[in-house]
Amino acid sequence: MNRKPIFAANWKMNKGASETEDFVKSFLSKLQGQDFPCEIVIAPPFVSLPKLADMLHNANAVQNAHAIQIAAQNCSQFDNGAYTGETSVLMLREFYVHYVIIGHSERRSIYGESDAIINAKIKKAREANLKPIFCIGETLAEREGGMLETVLRTQLTDGLKDISEKDLLETVIAYEPVWAIGTGVTATSDQAQDAHAFVRSVLKDLYGAETAARIRIQYGGSVKPNNAAELMACPDIDGALIGGASLEPQSFMEIIRNGCGHSA
Ligand code: PGA
Repeated sequence: MNRKPIFAANWKMNKGASETEDFVKSFLSKLQGQDFPCEIVIAPPFVSLPKLADMLHNANAVQNAHAIQIAAQNCSQFDNGAYTGETSVLMLREFYVHYVIIGHSERRSIYGESDAIINAKIKKAREANLKPIFCIGETLAEREGGMLETVLRTQLTDGLKDISEKDLLETVIAYEPVWAIGTGVTATSDQAQDAHAFVRSVLKDLYGAETAARIRIQYGGSVKPNNAAELMACPDIDGALIGGASLEPQSFMEIIRNGCGHSA
């Protein structure tokens, strides 16, 4: 099954507009003349979206701008109104946002997002034709307690409740074991492949084999230039969601270079 790998930078709460500008200039100059067979996505903080949109989509767009797609790190499950601090999907659309990260473990654990809220956000994103990057993953205690499969199945089943097959096909799943995020501890390629294969088997139960085989599943959690190739060589891993190592243009580029060539 031909699934185009997708490498997404999740900058979290890093890089305002001027740092975003510096990064994009440097990254695109490094990218010059290279044509990787994968999608490259950057998810900056909300306030940096206008700068990114301006650089990539306006009349004076920087050279090679088409190589990057824009993502948001979150969206509201509501349309508009009295939701202080929130950002709607239609507001994101104004800045050429294509993807939106939903259900990141930091949103789940720090901001209390439940599977039901995540499900509502996925639906809202699809109403605006945004592509969700839907994050799932277990904590270390859950893994060690033998709960890995139960946790992943619940997150998938509840997060995708009433999501049509058509909308699922526009969704990317990001498997991110919580214990590997920002810790420097990466899942071994066997652990990652096993979890990805399990995720695909749950998608098969929910949507059938043909659809499950078409869904891209990214790995996230301490992906670095030196482990990208091995992880991406796994048959069910279709790219990466990268936090810390995406903050430097050089390391983000090396992850793409090392990972892209090896993607199964
Ligand atoms: P990390 O973050 O690469 O810094 O571990 C990944 C993520 O949270 O998406």
